[in-house]
Amino acid sequence: MRIAIIGAGNVGTALAVLLQSAGHQLTGIASFSAASAAAAARRVNAAHGTDPLTFTRQAEIIFLTTPDRVVAEVCEQIVCQNGFSAGAIVAHTSGAHSSNILESVSINGAYPLSFHPLQTFANPDAGIQNLPGSFITVEGDEEALPVARQLVADLGCKLLEIPTASKPLYHAAACIACNYFTTLIEEALQVMEAAGVCRADGLPALYPLIEGTLNNIRRVGPTQALTGPIARGDASTVKLHLSALEKKLPELMPFYRVLGLATVELATAKGTLSDTERQKLLVYLGGDV
Ligand SMILES: NC(=O)c1ccc[n+]([C@@H]2O[C@H](COP(=O)([O-])OP(=O)(O)OC[C@H]3O[C@@H](n4cnc5c(N)ncnc54)[C@H](OP(=O)(O)O)[C@@H]3O)[C@@H](O)[C@H]2O)c1
Repeated sequence: MRIAIIGAGNVGTALAVLLQSAGHQLTGIASFSAASAAAAARRVNAAHGTDPLTFTRQAEIIFLTTPDRVVAEVCEQIVCQNGFSAGAIVAHTSGAHSSNILESVSINGAYPLSFHPLQTFANPDAGIQNLPGSFITVEGDEEALPVARQLVADLGCKLLEIPTASKPLYHAAACIACNYFTTLIEEALQVMEAAGVCRADGLPALYPLIEGTLNNIRRVGPTQALTGPIARGDASTVKLHLSALEKKLPELMPFYRVLGLATVELATAKGTLSDTERQKLLVYLGGDV
């Protein structure tokens, strides 16, 4: 199909490369800055520029891969100039927003779609490498869905379809699993540093533990994968952690406590925590040590 990309950032560039490799034809890549559009276009030998209309009118599918905050505005600017052809599919790749933010495309006779790659694009190359095999979550106009399903398959991805109203909650889940997980590892590294292990040694030391944990979660799910002092009911160990944190990193205690309390619930679900140890843990984690 003929595809235009508007927004030559991490996702737009990766999609341009992957969709072209899958046999689709790019009408061109537009971006806010000419330099970004040119850099993305060099990878796929496509036309480029700063005016979306140069490429949107000939396209059957248009991806608006700008930051979330300007997707609706960019879409409306194109609609006002009759920039989408009748029957075209206009997609954004935001996780949190639904296809409703593209409702103006119906004025041009086009169909709105949200097409969210459930993967992290730290840069275009990371996206190109990680996307195949990932899920892509779609919702939108009934007319757009069959093409969306085909594109998911063309990208070597798996399909997740969700109700339009669920997008913000769905995206909160994705942010917890990806962004908050990243923050979690950063906090662990800070605690390692406070323990005297420098950052350069801390990450390689923690990494096999992180991978082992992910392997267990994949194999048996989070409840059965849970190990450690809370799962075992060693409340005195948690008390020791809190005392050490209080001396060296008191600002991390609220973070440790919130995750500790959630972990008590997981350990309770696992069934390995006695009532007595659970009560002690709730006191340590919920109040003063
Ligand atoms: N990064 C991820 O991990 C990820 C994962 C899944 C979904 N998404 C979604 O994908 C979308 C793009 O994210 P991203 O990470 O690729 O963002 P990004 O790297 O910041 O790229 C956004 C691009 O849009 C361009 N742009 C900004 N305003 C524009 C405008 N008015 N008209 C045309 N182009 C404009 C930017 O301009 P310049 O021309 O100035 O460079 C930039 O190249 C977002 O909706 C995001 O939620 C991101």
